[in-house]
Formats: sequence, C-alpha cells, structure tokens
Amino acid sequence: MSTYSEDKRKVTTRRFQEMKERGEKIAMLTAYDYSLARLVDEAGIDAILVGDSASNVMVGNATTLPMTLDQMIYHARCVTNGVKRALVICDMPFGSYQGNPTEALASAIRIMKESGAEAVKLEGGIEIKESIERILSAGIPVMGHLGLTPQSINKFGTYNVRAREEAEAQKLLDDAMMLQEIGCFAVTLEKIPAALATRVSQALSIPTIGIGAGNGTDGQVLVLQDMLGINKGFSPKFLRRYADLADVIDSAIGNYIGDVKSGDFPNADEQY
Ligand code: KIV
Repeated sequence: MSTYSEDKRKVTTRRFQEMKERGEKIAMLTAYDYSLARLVDEAGIDAILVGDSASNVMVGNATTLPMTLDQMIYHARCVTNGVKRALVICDMPFGSYQGNPTEALASAIRIMKESGAEAVKLEGGIEIKESIERILSAGIPVMGHLGLTPQSINKFGTYNVRAREEAEAQKLLDDAMMLQEIGCFAVTLEKIPAALATRVSQALSIPTIGIGAGNGTDGQVLVLQDMLGINKGFSPKFLRRYADLADVIDSAIGNYIGDVKSGDFPNADEQY
C-alpha cells in the first residue's frame, strides 16, 4: 500500500463524510476488472468507480449508452473480487433507472446483490428525484452525478464544458442541494467551470468528487486507462497522465515478438 493510505480501515460512505469534514481530499479512480482493481486498491485509493465508461474503455463503443445492467454487474463483480479496502461504487447504466422508480429500485438491488458493490451512481438531478428516493429507501447509498452527464449525449450533442451560463449553473446548484436533501452521500461534478464546482462544494455538506471541475471539489476521479496513458487518443485539458503504459506495453510486446521470432524465448531456464 502506498504511503498515502496508512489508514487500512475499509472505506465506507460514512468515512467519505468524515473526510469532507476534516478537509481530507478523496481520491477515486475507475476500474472495470479484477487485476487492475486489485492493484488500484492495494495502492491505497479511497474509492473505485465501476463507471459506465467501461463502454468506451473496455468495449470500444463511442458512447456509454449501449452498456447493459448485466454488463455493469459483470464488471462490478470483477472489481469487488479484487478489492479489500476501497469503497466500490457502480454506475447504473442508461435505461436502468430513468423509466420509473420501481424499475430503478429493481436495477439497484440487482447491482447490490449480484456484484457486491457498496453504492450506486446515477446521472441527473430533479428529473430522476423519485428514482433516487426509491433506491435510497432500500438502504442503498447513492452518489449523484451532475454537469456533463455522458448518458445525455444525444440531448446535448457534445462533451463540452457544461453550466457556463448562469441559468444552467443555478439549476446545477439547485440539483446538488436537492440530492443532498434527499440523502445522497456524495455528488460527482463532471466538466464544469472550477468556480462553479467550488461554489457547489462549499454549499454542500456532503462531498463532491470532480472530474474536469478544478481543485475546489472535495475529491477527484479519473478514468484509470486515461491517467495510466493506455488510452493515448484521449487528451482533454483536465487529464493528467501519471504513466505512459501504452509505450511500456508496446515495447514489452515488441520485445516478446522479437524473442519468439528469433528463438531466444523460451531459453533453457524457462522450460521443464
Ligand atoms: O463512467 C465514468 O467513468 C464516470 C466518471 C467519468 C465520473 O462516470
């Protein structure tokens, strides 16, 4: 475990709240599979989001819309199998909660029962209030998600920064307050102006987790493959790359191919 996480206690939604109260930033990353989730957890991350960005990162789809409930449950199960300490939050996929509160609750219950995730995340504000309330009524922790909501790409048409205009900024603030009032434990703020994210974070007593939302939020989240430099085709301004794994992988595989072709691999010590 990295030096950043001397506290080995399991991270819970309650600890998220404690972290906000003492001003400790929350570090979150996505993961979609057992092997990487285990490494991310062992490095000391506070929370792992099984994002529906799996649609882009794992499946190669252009949007998050095709992801199904079964697929999200599969990825979340892979992740929880590898995680001991981090809080695991699973995205509810498009179409699994917008229809009506009963369907939303049934979807959330499937995620909790079948994947072992400890919370769910839903995109949207007042439009999905009843669905969130119904899920919360079953004792399932909910993280909200405001700002850029990729499941609504067909409504907005772009992945540009959201809530630059005052009317949209005010709606976002109202939605965030509503999410807190009904009992969400945290809110993700995606790709909004830093000043607005700071304003929302200061107005809320629950933690905000930002992505492309500046440094005034209570925590940060990045897509694992983006920050590790595996997905080199994606370079938004907000992304900081902590490794260039695409180059490392390319070189390792090139060396392997060369060794196989030349007959150098396996050698006498690498056989039975
Ligand atoms: O699906 C996802 O990875 C997300 C993050 C970008 C917040 O929702």
